[in-house]
Amino acid sequence: TANPLTDPFGRSISSLRISVTDRCNLNCIYCHHEGNDCVHAESEISKQTILNLVGAARCHGVNKLKFSGGEPLMRSDFEEIISELPRMKNISATTNGVMLADRAHDLKDSGLDRVNISLDTLDPERYRYITNGSSHLLERVMDGIHMAVDAGLVPVKLNMVLLKGLNDSEIEDMLDFVRGYSDGVVLQLIELMDFNGIPSYRIDADAIEQYLASRAKSIITRKMHRRKKYLIDGAAVEFVRPIDNSQFCAACNRLRVTPQGKLKPCLLVNDNLVDIEGADCRQMHELLRTAVSRRVPFCR
Ligand code: GTP
Ligand code: 5AD
Repeated sequence: TANPLTDPFGRSISSLRISVTDRCNLNCIYCHHEGNDCVHAESEISKQTILNLVGAARCHGVNKLKFSGGEPLMRSDFEEIISELPRMKNISATTNGVMLADRAHDLKDSGLDRVNISLDTLDPERYRYITNGSSHLLERVMDGIHMAVDAGLVPVKLNMVLLKGLNDSEIEDMLDFVRGYSDGVVLQLIELMDFNGIPSYRIDADAIEQYLASRAKSIITRKMHRRKKYLIDGAAVEFVRPIDNSQFCAACNRLRVTPQGKLKPCLLVNDNLVDIEGADCRQMHELLRTAVSRRVPFCR
Protein backbone atom coordinates (compact mmCIF):
# COMPACT_ATOMS: atom_id res chain seq x y z
CA THR A 1 0.00 0.00 0.00
CA ALA A 2 1.27 3.47 -0.87
CA ASN A 3 -0.03 5.13 2.25
CA PRO A 4 -0.57 2.68 5.12
CA LEU A 5 -2.11 3.61 8.46
CA THR A 6 0.68 2.63 10.82
CA ASP A 7 0.36 3.29 14.56
CA PRO A 8 3.18 4.51 16.86
CA PHE A 9 3.96 0.87 17.71
CA GLY A 10 4.43 -0.24 14.13
CA ARG A 11 1.10 -2.00 13.66
CA SER A 12 -0.56 -1.24 10.33
CA ILE A 13 -4.34 -1.10 10.20
CA SER A 14 -5.83 -3.53 7.71
CA SER A 15 -9.29 -4.01 9.12
CA LEU A 16 -12.21 -2.13 10.64
CA ARG A 17 -14.62 -3.46 13.26
CA ILE A 18 -17.77 -1.41 12.87
CA SER A 19 -20.41 -1.60 15.59
CA VAL A 20 -23.48 -0.29 13.78
CA THR A 21 -25.89 -0.25 16.73
CA ASP A 22 -26.04 -0.76 20.49
CA ARG A 23 -29.55 -2.15 20.17
CA CYS A 24 -30.04 -5.87 20.66
CA ASN A 25 -33.05 -8.16 20.85
CA LEU A 26 -31.30 -10.33 23.46
CA ASN A 27 -29.67 -9.47 26.76
CA CYS A 28 -26.99 -12.09 27.42
CA ILE A 29 -25.84 -12.42 31.01
CA TYR A 30 -22.16 -12.10 30.04
CA CYS A 31 -22.36 -9.46 27.31
CA HIS A 32 -19.46 -6.99 27.14
CA HIS A 33 -21.37 -4.64 24.81
CA GLU A 34 -18.22 -4.44 22.67
CA GLY A 35 -16.71 -2.29 25.39
CA ASN A 36 -19.19 0.49 24.54
CA ASP A 37 -20.95 2.61 27.10
CA CYS A 38 -24.35 0.99 27.41
CA VAL A 39 -26.34 4.12 26.60
CA HIS A 40 -28.48 3.52 23.56
CA ALA A 41 -27.73 6.16 20.98
CA GLU A 42 -30.59 8.31 19.76
CA SER A 43 -28.95 8.56 16.41
CA GLU A 44 -26.68 5.87 15.09
CA ILE A 45 -23.77 6.22 12.73
CA SER A 46 -25.23 7.04 9.33
CA LYS A 47 -24.90 4.91 6.26
CA GLN A 48 -23.09 7.75 4.47
CA THR A 49 -20.54 8.11 7.26
CA ILE A 50 -19.81 4.37 7.09
CA LEU A 51 -19.39 4.56 3.30
CA ASN A 52 -17.12 7.61 3.48
CA LEU A 53 -15.03 5.97 6.18
CA VAL A 54 -14.65 2.67 4.34
CA GLY A 55 -13.83 4.49 1.09
CA ALA A 56 -11.05 6.45 2.79
CA ALA A 57 -9.75 3.47 4.77
CA ARG A 58 -9.52 1.43 1.58
CA CYS A 59 -7.04 3.94 0.13
CA HIS A 60 -4.77 3.07 3.06
CA GLY A 61 -4.90 -0.67 2.50
CA VAL A 62 -7.82 -1.64 4.72
CA ASN A 63 -9.31 -4.74 3.09
CA LYS A 64 -11.30 -6.42 5.86
CA LEU A 65 -14.51 -5.30 7.54
CA LYS A 66 -16.33 -6.79 10.52
CA PHE A 67 -19.81 -5.55 11.37
CA SER A 68 -21.01 -6.07 14.91
CA GLY A 69 -23.48 -4.55 17.37
CA GLY A 70 -25.41 -4.80 19.61
CA GLU A 71 -27.14 -6.89 17.02
CA PRO A 72 -26.27 -5.58 13.52
CA LEU A 73 -29.49 -6.95 12.01
CA MET A 74 -31.46 -4.58 14.26
CA ARG A 75 -30.59 -1.99 11.61
CA SER A 76 -33.16 -2.22 8.86
CA ASP A 77 -30.71 -0.56 6.45
CA PHE A 78 -28.00 -3.16 7.09
CA GLU A 79 -28.35 -4.86 3.68
CA GLU A 80 -28.34 -1.43 2.03
CA ILE A 81 -25.11 -0.49 3.82
CA ILE A 82 -23.43 -3.75 2.76
CA SER A 83 -24.57 -3.39 -0.84
CA GLU A 84 -23.14 0.12 -1.22
CA LEU A 85 -19.69 -0.70 0.17
CA PRO A 86 -16.71 -0.80 -2.15
CA ARG A 87 -15.36 -4.28 -2.87
CA MET A 88 -13.14 -5.66 -0.12
CA LYS A 89 -11.25 -8.86 0.47
CA ASN A 90 -13.46 -9.91 3.36
CA ILE A 91 -16.71 -8.51 4.74
CA SER A 92 -18.28 -10.33 7.69
CA ALA A 93 -20.78 -9.77 10.48
CA THR A 94 -21.22 -11.15 13.97
CA THR A 95 -24.89 -11.75 14.78
CA ASN A 96 -27.01 -13.60 17.32
CA GLY A 97 -28.77 -15.27 14.39
CA VAL A 98 -32.32 -14.68 15.65
CA MET A 99 -33.27 -12.57 12.61
CA LEU A 100 -30.92 -14.18 10.14
CA ALA A 101 -32.95 -16.90 8.42
CA ASP A 102 -35.07 -14.52 6.30
CA ARG A 103 -32.18 -12.23 5.49
CA ALA A 104 -29.26 -14.59 4.84
CA HIS A 105 -29.69 -14.77 1.07
CA ASP A 106 -30.20 -11.01 0.71
CA LEU A 107 -27.11 -10.41 2.80
CA LYS A 108 -25.06 -12.69 0.60
CA ASP A 109 -26.41 -11.01 -2.53
CA SER A 110 -25.58 -7.62 -1.03
CA GLY A 111 -21.92 -8.64 -0.74
CA LEU A 112 -21.55 -10.08 2.75
CA ASP A 113 -18.97 -12.90 2.66
CA ARG A 114 -19.56 -14.69 5.94
CA VAL A 115 -21.10 -14.58 9.42
CA ASN A 116 -20.26 -15.48 13.00
CA ILE A 117 -23.35 -16.59 14.93
CA SER A 118 -23.54 -16.64 18.72
CA LEU A 119 -24.61 -20.07 19.95
CA ASP A 120 -23.71 -20.83 23.53
CA THR A 121 -25.92 -23.87 24.04
CA LEU A 122 -28.08 -26.40 22.20
CA ASP A 123 -30.53 -26.59 25.11
CA PRO A 124 -33.61 -24.31 24.82
CA GLU A 125 -34.00 -23.75 28.55
CA ARG A 126 -30.33 -22.92 28.96
CA TYR A 127 -30.58 -20.64 25.93
CA ARG A 128 -33.40 -18.76 27.61
CA TYR A 129 -31.37 -18.38 30.79
CA ILE A 130 -28.19 -17.17 29.07
CA THR A 131 -29.83 -14.77 26.63
CA ASN A 132 -32.70 -13.52 28.79
CA GLY A 133 -34.81 -14.23 25.72
CA SER A 134 -37.40 -16.89 25.03
CA SER A 135 -36.47 -20.56 24.64
CA HIS A 136 -38.27 -20.60 21.24
CA LEU A 137 -35.68 -18.25 19.82
CA LEU A 138 -33.14 -21.07 19.76
CA GLU A 139 -35.08 -22.63 16.87
CA ARG A 140 -34.85 -19.36 14.96
CA VAL A 141 -31.10 -19.33 15.50
CA MET A 142 -30.93 -22.91 14.20
CA ASP A 143 -32.86 -21.81 11.11
CA GLY A 144 -30.49 -18.87 10.82
CA ILE A 145 -27.46 -21.18 10.84
CA HIS A 146 -29.08 -23.41 8.26
CA MET A 147 -29.94 -20.52 5.93
CA ALA A 148 -26.53 -18.91 6.35
CA VAL A 149 -24.88 -22.14 5.16
CA ASP A 150 -27.46 -22.44 2.39
CA ALA A 151 -26.70 -18.88 1.23
CA GLY A 152 -22.96 -19.53 1.25
CA LEU A 153 -22.09 -17.19 4.11
CA VAL A 154 -19.34 -19.66 4.95
CA PRO A 155 -17.50 -20.70 6.92
CA VAL A 156 -20.16 -19.91 9.52
CA LYS A 157 -18.40 -19.56 12.84
CA LEU A 158 -20.46 -20.49 15.87
CA ASN A 159 -19.38 -18.34 18.81
CA MET A 160 -19.67 -20.25 22.07
CA VAL A 161 -18.67 -18.27 25.14
CA LEU A 162 -17.61 -20.86 27.70
CA LEU A 163 -19.37 -20.46 31.04
CA LYS A 164 -18.21 -22.74 33.82
CA GLY A 165 -20.97 -24.98 35.16
CA LEU A 166 -23.44 -23.62 32.61
CA ASN A 167 -22.43 -24.76 29.14
CA ASP A 168 -18.88 -26.11 29.43
CA SER A 169 -20.26 -29.66 29.43
CA GLU A 170 -21.61 -29.09 25.90
CA ILE A 171 -18.37 -28.88 23.94
CA GLU A 172 -18.64 -32.44 22.60
CA ASP A 173 -22.31 -31.91 21.63
CA MET A 174 -21.31 -28.75 19.79
CA LEU A 175 -18.58 -30.66 17.96
CA ASP A 176 -21.20 -33.19 16.84
CA PHE A 177 -23.47 -30.36 15.73
CA VAL A 178 -20.65 -28.80 13.69
CA ARG A 179 -19.79 -32.15 12.08
CA GLY A 180 -23.34 -32.28 10.79
CA TYR A 181 -22.48 -29.40 8.45
CA SER A 182 -19.16 -30.88 7.24
CA ASP A 183 -17.01 -27.92 6.14
CA GLY A 184 -19.66 -25.20 6.32
CA VAL A 185 -19.51 -24.55 10.06
CA VAL A 186 -16.63 -23.96 12.49
CA LEU A 187 -16.87 -23.91 16.27
CA GLN A 188 -15.31 -20.83 17.87
CA LEU A 189 -14.91 -21.31 21.61
CA ILE A 190 -14.43 -18.06 23.49
CA GLU A 191 -12.96 -17.45 26.89
CA LEU A 192 -15.28 -15.28 28.98
CA MET A 193 -14.20 -11.74 29.71
CA ASP A 194 -15.90 -11.46 33.07
CA PHE A 195 -15.97 -7.77 33.84
CA ASN A 196 -19.74 -7.96 34.35
CA GLY A 197 -19.38 -9.19 37.90
CA ILE A 198 -19.97 -12.83 37.03
CA PRO A 199 -16.60 -14.31 38.00
CA SER A 200 -18.11 -17.64 39.05
CA TYR A 201 -18.53 -18.54 35.36
CA ARG A 202 -14.84 -18.16 34.59
CA ILE A 203 -13.36 -21.28 32.99
CA ASP A 204 -9.84 -22.65 33.15
CA ALA A 205 -8.70 -21.75 29.65
CA ASP A 206 -5.42 -23.64 29.85
CA ALA A 207 -7.31 -26.80 30.79
CA ILE A 208 -9.64 -26.32 27.81
CA GLU A 209 -6.63 -25.91 25.50
CA GLN A 210 -5.08 -29.08 26.88
CA TYR A 211 -8.33 -30.93 26.38
CA LEU A 212 -8.64 -29.74 22.78
CA ALA A 213 -5.00 -30.59 22.09
CA SER A 214 -5.50 -34.11 23.46
CA ARG A 215 -8.51 -34.64 21.19
CA ALA A 216 -7.02 -33.07 18.05
CA LYS A 217 -5.35 -34.80 15.11
CA SER A 218 -3.84 -31.52 14.00
CA ILE A 219 -3.35 -28.04 15.44
CA ILE A 220 -2.82 -24.95 13.32
CA THR A 221 -1.79 -21.61 14.81
CA ARG A 222 -3.42 -18.77 12.90
CA LYS A 223 -1.32 -15.69 12.35
CA MET A 224 -4.16 -13.32 13.17
CA HIS A 225 -4.42 -13.07 16.96
CA ARG A 226 -2.22 -16.20 17.18
CA ARG A 227 -5.43 -18.13 17.54
CA LYS A 228 -5.19 -21.92 17.56
CA LYS A 229 -7.33 -24.05 15.33
CA TYR A 230 -7.90 -27.71 16.18
CA LEU A 231 -9.22 -30.47 13.96
CA ILE A 232 -11.16 -33.01 16.02
CA ASP A 233 -12.60 -35.94 14.05
CA GLY A 234 -13.61 -33.71 11.18
CA ALA A 235 -14.80 -30.77 13.27
CA ALA A 236 -12.83 -27.51 13.14
CA VAL A 237 -12.54 -25.67 16.46
CA GLU A 238 -10.89 -22.36 17.23
CA PHE A 239 -10.21 -21.08 20.71
CA VAL A 240 -10.27 -17.32 21.30
CA ARG A 241 -8.59 -16.06 24.43
CA PRO A 242 -9.50 -12.37 24.59
CA ILE A 243 -8.09 -11.91 28.09
CA ASP A 244 -4.56 -12.66 26.94
CA ASN A 245 -3.44 -9.38 25.43
CA SER A 246 -0.30 -10.97 24.02
CA GLN A 247 -2.68 -12.76 21.65
CA PHE A 248 -4.83 -9.79 20.76
CA CYS A 249 -3.08 -6.48 21.16
CA ALA A 250 0.39 -7.43 19.92
CA ALA A 251 -0.94 -8.43 16.50
CA CYS A 252 -3.90 -6.06 16.47
CA ASN A 253 -4.47 -4.52 13.06
CA ARG A 254 -8.02 -3.28 13.64
CA LEU A 255 -9.59 0.04 14.27
CA ARG A 256 -13.04 0.11 15.87
CA VAL A 257 -16.01 2.27 15.10
CA THR A 258 -18.72 2.92 17.70
CA PRO A 259 -22.47 3.10 16.98
CA GLN A 260 -22.26 6.81 17.78
CA GLY A 261 -19.93 7.31 14.82
CA LYS A 262 -16.61 7.55 16.62
CA LEU A 263 -13.34 5.92 15.76
CA LYS A 264 -12.07 3.95 18.71
CA PRO A 265 -8.31 3.42 18.63
CA CYS A 266 -8.48 0.29 20.85
CA LEU A 267 -11.38 -2.07 21.67
CA LEU A 268 -11.30 -1.77 25.43
CA VAL A 269 -10.22 1.86 25.78
CA ASN A 270 -13.02 4.40 25.92
CA ASP A 271 -11.25 7.74 25.96
CA ASN A 272 -9.50 9.36 22.99
CA LEU A 273 -12.34 8.59 20.59
CA VAL A 274 -12.44 10.48 17.30
CA ASP A 275 -15.82 11.74 16.09
CA ILE A 276 -16.35 11.04 12.38
CA GLU A 277 -20.12 11.47 12.03
CA GLY A 278 -20.89 13.61 9.02
CA ALA A 279 -17.28 13.81 7.85
CA ASP A 280 -16.75 13.80 4.08
CA CYS A 281 -14.28 11.58 2.25
CA ARG A 282 -11.52 14.18 2.33
CA GLN A 283 -11.81 14.84 6.09
CA MET A 284 -11.92 11.11 6.78
CA HIS A 285 -8.24 10.62 5.92
CA GLU A 286 -7.13 13.09 8.58
CA LEU A 287 -9.51 11.61 11.19
CA LEU A 288 -8.16 8.13 10.49
CA ARG A 289 -4.61 9.36 11.04
CA THR A 290 -5.61 11.02 14.31
CA ALA A 291 -7.24 7.83 15.61
CA VAL A 292 -4.29 5.65 14.63
CA SER A 293 -1.88 8.02 16.40
CA ARG A 294 -3.90 7.53 19.61
CA ARG A 295 -3.49 3.76 19.80
CA VAL A 296 -1.95 2.21 22.92
CA PRO A 297 0.31 -0.86 22.98
CA PHE A 298 -2.11 -2.81 25.20
CA CYS A 299 -5.83 -2.40 25.91
CA ARG A 300 -5.41 -2.94 29.64
P1 GTP B 1 -13.39 -13.64 13.00
O1 GTP B 1 -13.61 -14.76 13.97
O2 GTP B 1 -12.11 -13.76 12.27
O3 GTP B 1 -14.56 -13.47 12.10
O4 GTP B 1 -13.29 -12.29 13.83
P2 GTP B 1 -13.58 -11.96 15.35
O5 GTP B 1 -12.66 -12.72 16.22
O6 GTP B 1 -13.54 -10.48 15.48
O7 GTP B 1 -15.01 -12.50 15.60
P3 GTP B 1 -16.11 -12.08 16.62
O8 GTP B 1 -16.68 -10.74 16.29
O9 GTP B 1 -17.09 -13.20 16.60
O10 GTP B 1 -15.40 -12.01 18.02
C1 GTP B 1 -14.95 -13.17 18.68
C2 GTP B 1 -14.44 -12.80 20.08
O11 GTP B 1 -13.26 -12.01 19.98
C3 GTP B 1 -15.45 -11.98 20.86
O12 GTP B 1 -15.44 -12.44 22.19
C4 GTP B 1 -14.88 -10.57 20.77
O13 GTP B 1 -15.26 -9.81 21.86
C5 GTP B 1 -13.39 -10.86 20.79
N1 GTP B 1 -12.57 -9.78 20.24
C6 GTP B 1 -12.62 -9.29 18.97
N2 GTP B 1 -11.69 -8.33 18.80
C7 GTP B 1 -11.03 -8.21 20.00
C8 GTP B 1 -9.94 -7.41 20.49
O14 GTP B 1 -9.36 -6.60 19.79
N3 GTP B 1 -9.54 -7.59 21.77
C9 GTP B 1 -10.13 -8.48 22.59
N4 GTP B 1 -9.68 -8.60 23.82
N5 GTP B 1 -11.16 -9.26 22.17
C10 GTP B 1 -11.60 -9.13 20.91
N1 5AD C 1 -16.61 -12.37 26.85
C1 5AD C 1 -16.27 -12.99 25.69
N2 5AD C 1 -16.96 -12.87 24.56
C2 5AD C 1 -18.06 -12.13 24.58
N3 5AD C 1 -18.96 -11.84 23.63
C3 5AD C 1 -19.89 -11.01 24.15
N4 5AD C 1 -19.62 -10.76 25.45
C4 5AD C 1 -18.48 -11.46 25.74
C5 5AD C 1 -17.71 -11.61 26.92
N5 5AD C 1 -18.04 -11.00 28.08
C6 5AD C 1 -18.88 -12.38 22.27
C7 5AD C 1 -20.15 -13.06 21.79
C8 5AD C 1 -20.43 -12.42 20.46
C9 5AD C 1 -19.17 -11.66 20.14
C10 5AD C 1 -19.36 -10.43 19.32
O1 5AD C 1 -18.65 -11.31 21.38
O2 5AD C 1 -19.89 -14.40 21.56
O3 5AD C 1 -20.66 -13.41 19.50
